[in-house]
Amino acid sequence: MSYFLMPLLLLDKLKNSKINFIKMTKILITGASGQLGSVLTKKLQDKYGVDNVIASDLRINPSFNGCFEVLDATDFDALSEIVLKFEITQIYHLAAILSANGEKIPLNTWDINMKSLFNVLEVSRLTNIDKVFFPSSIAVYGNDAPKTETPQDYVVAPSTVYGISKVAGENWAHYYYERYGLDIRSIRYPGVIGHQSLPGGGTTDYAIDIFHKAVKNEVFECFLEATATLPMIYMDDTIRATIELMEAPKENITVRTSYNLSGMSFSPEQLTQSIQKIYPDFKIVYKPDFRQKIAESWPSSIDDSSARSDWNWKPQFDIDAMASVMIEELKLKYITELKIS
Ligand code: SER
Repeated sequence: MSYFLMPLLLLDKLKNSKINFIKMTKILITGASGQLGSVLTKKLQDKYGVDNVIASDLRINPSFNGCFEVLDATDFDALSEIVLKFEITQIYHLAAILSANGEKIPLNTWDINMKSLFNVLEVSRLTNIDKVFFPSSIAVYGNDAPKTETPQDYVVAPSTVYGISKVAGENWAHYYYERYGLDIRSIRYPGVIGHQSLPGGGTTDYAIDIFHKAVKNEVFECFLEATATLPMIYMDDTIRATIELMEAPKENITVRTSYNLSGMSFSPEQLTQSIQKIYPDFKIVYKPDFRQKIAESWPSSIDDSSARSDWNWKPQFDIDAMASVMIEELKLKYITELKIS
């Protein structure tokens, strides 16, 4: 359906809907079965109550507890129906194709990432959604940007279709804020490392896979070179940053494209050394593939002073603290699985 027709149809539905004027916080998460979505959903359920968080994705995780709607976020009618049905007041729009998978079918990636974002933006302005969260990425920077402490305002000229879709998304977020006053907030996530879920098709995925191999006492084959240093962040810090940004007073938010966010920075070689402090015999071999080129186009560290000054961002996990929790948690996971099977 054309974007021109959408508002008319939706306004029609709105007139017949039972939207309450005293609004409770009701959150919709797209991409809720994904790496970040599955953890963020639980955190938001704890904070706002299970019934006030609607998780959505193309597929449900078998272990999911709570309210779930099967949703293809590129389908405007399906998205708006859920927003109206549950009287949604906030949307966390996490559904997207990541950097490495994105390169396999570039135009498809553009289509999915942008269409789903446009749908979220339009439904949000038409139903007066209070707040929207849109994740951007370190992938917005390209080869020309300074590699270390990349500044917030440096020119964004990405080299992947994923990065291009994030830059466009940041600009559209800024446009909807300026033009319609939509309170949309965003973070440029570094590579996110967590034990709870597996990532899907990113360039930073190696930093999670490596822990699974270490705990299972297997050799890890790395698709990046030993020295490929990238910005990374532990899951707990990521979730805390997201919620802190969303809860910050509106007047503190000076960046309406997307905030740089820093957790830690390391290369596969440095991560291996950190794991070897716990598993001295752990081994890695390097077989770089097309993802090495993507990694080379990204910063190795990020300047996040705007996030620090606007909403007091401060990471808590460094590489060794992260490695030690990852190993403890994955050990527990594999022991539990062994006991069950
Ligand atoms: N972790 C993401 C990726 O590798 C970057 O935002 O695609």
